[in-house]
Amino acid sequence: MDKARSHRLTLAVWFAVAALSLATALQAQTPPPPPIMLGTAWYPEQWPESRWDADLTLMQQAGIHMVRVGEFAWSRMEPREGNYDLDWLDRAVAIGAKHGIYTVIGTPTAAPPAWLTQKYPETLRIDEAGHRVEHGNRQQFNFANPKYRELARKIAEQMAKRFGHNPYVLGWQIDNEYQDISFDPDTKMQFQQWLKVRYGTLDNLNARWTTAYWSETIFDWSQIPIQTQYGNPGLLLAWKRFVSDTWRSYQKNQLDVIRANSDPKQFITTNTMGWYDGFDHYVVEKDLDLASWDDYVGQGHLDPARNGFAHDLTRGFKGKNFWVMETQPGSVNWAPVNNSLDKGEVRAMAWHAVGHGADVVSYWQWRSALNGQEEYHGTLVGADGTPVPFYAEAQQIGQEFAKAGPALAGTSVKSEVAILHSYDSRWAIDWQRHNTNYDPAVELVSYYGPLRAVSQSIDIVEPVAPLSQYKLVVAPGLNVLSDAAAKNLIEYVRHGGHLVLGQRSAMKDEDNGLRPQRQPGPLADLLGGRVEQYYALVDPVAIEGKFGPGQSKLWAELLSANDKDTEVLETYGKSNGWLDGKPAAITRRVGKGRITYIGAWLDGSVMTAAAKWMGEVSGVKPALGKVPDGVEVYPRYGDQGVVYILVNFSKVEQTVALPSAMNDVLQGGSKQSVKLPVYGVAVLSK
Ligand code: GAL
Repeated sequence: MDKARSHRLTLAVWFAVAALSLATALQAQTPPPPPIMLGTAWYPEQWPESRWDADLTLMQQAGIHMVRVGEFAWSRMEPREGNYDLDWLDRAVAIGAKHGIYTVIGTPTAAPPAWLTQKYPETLRIDEAGHRVEHGNRQQFNFANPKYRELARKIAEQMAKRFGHNPYVLGWQIDNEYQDISFDPDTKMQFQQWLKVRYGTLDNLNARWTTAYWSETIFDWSQIPIQTQYGNPGLLLAWKRFVSDTWRSYQKNQLDVIRANSDPKQFITTNTMGWYDGFDHYVVEKDLDLASWDDYVGQGHLDPARNGFAHDLTRGFKGKNFWVMETQPGSVNWAPVNNSLDKGEVRAMAWHAVGHGADVVSYWQWRSALNGQEEYHGTLVGADGTPVPFYAEAQQIGQEFAKAGPALAGTSVKSEVAILHSYDSRWAIDWQRHNTNYDPAVELVSYYGPLRAVSQSIDIVEPVAPLSQYKLVVAPGLNVLSDAAAKNLIEYVRHGGHLVLGQRSAMKDEDNGLRPQRQPGPLADLLGGRVEQYYALVDPVAIEGKFGPGQSKLWAELLSANDKDTEVLETYGKSNGWLDGKPAAITRRVGKGRITYIGAWLDGSVMTAAAKWMGEVSGVKPALGKVPDGVEVYPRYGDQGVVYILVNFSKVEQTVALPSAMNDVLQGGSKQSVKLPVYGVAVLSK
């Protein structure tokens, strides 16, 4: 080695050591972020630096402690290939820190720069109709393309090297809302390769997909097409699994370089989209530290059940508290009518999120870019850079988060009830609805709402998750049942749990093929009964029994009870002749456990009664006790005890009598009852 090189090397090592010691020293001085945080998406690259301080001052005055930056700024970070400019981002993080604001950095790979896609056109995705997508919007990249991944990895690595030990950087968001996939020939070849690994031989694949049907037999891997809506059900499901694995490896490509270059204290997440089912989130979330999602209402108003389900679903990805990485400050710009949420509704929505286990609620966005596709979206400050009316509500939320932070620090959600959720099953039902109005998501919520009222807390988990902690496990629409999941459920019942299966349960195997038994397949013996036949309905069918009279709409399953211990809970009234007088819901005790099958789509009052019964026979109690209809209760548990968050989503003022005196965390004082106006919130500790 020549002398100059050796000198350069010594200098480089010296700088690296100095930078690391500086980071360690800074870390020691950096106060920890507040336990419950208000945040916002901020795009410093869209504004002159001279404006930054004014924005951050306004943020600080609103009680904001977190900004997410960078996720669309690739053209600013790498204006020419290999020419990285991150100094401005460093300055943005530093000025945030000056205002007590921490940063989450997004990798910018959802929006590649024009030079990149022009130089490497193969990095642009091809849509399902066969068109190559152009520059000018986002998500134009091809998620399976090796060149794109190489360039994405490089920018992520540069960023991690720069910010991986910055104590004001709390963590990383990889990309933004994974969604658009590519149908180019290379991706198709990767799919065929993936199938080869998964199925081993064509004989195996042909058998499992029953390709003898319609002469679908595959003689060579290259003959396998991509189908997404109508096709062999085995192929449709395999494609979705390939897409899920491909998003996972797309993410891992960046995740690995971030991990290698960052402090383990910095989390890695990606922002998902609640109910969105473009890929299996249980697969993609495996490698992440934290689940986070973007919670938008769009047109209309918050539906606490549907939105609450999405919160609990997201919490279930990692089985711990999560973040709301984006949410609307009033209105969006992409719904048919972009109405604003009512005054006070956004605050109610923020507390509903925290109640479900969110530790951060972050508004998208701080201020609209003066040009660009989202000029009309809700913000906290207007085009003139001064607060819009919603700013005051955000400020109130900020103050309340600060007040409630100490009580909520270290608390999390615990539930006695779980609902099983499976992407395989949602897809399988959606591909073959059999009744066009049968929406598997609506079926899930039809159970979730009434069960939540009974228990005041629900976990949403996948069918292979550990279940022994739950008194009641409900599986609406578990259409695809893997052997592993069947084993898990059988063990759960045998160990004393109560399993409730809803319509269309346990019909399909792992390849989306029909199981060669009637529903609920491997669970039928335990049930001592089965589904004799299913009927799609034009008109609702009357039902009656233990849960009272009502109707089954859309779908009805004719059940039989063939074991002396199997009890009929509900029967069908007069209908198509086949169903008349036949069982619609059955249950059987199995030792200390129980298994129930509900073959009817229960309407409002019958579902309420059924949920009550499920709670009673399973020993599930509401966490706080009875509250008026429309008031939601969210318990969060910690070492110091329990904190109850209450939100009034009904249309009138409500008074809630408390089972014992509690501290009113927001208003102060000890209370025996609380009065909640419409959208009113109370935080109570014991
Ligand atoms: C999200 C997206 C944001 C913004 C927002 C508008 O889906 O992640 O970048 O576009 O929608 O509602």
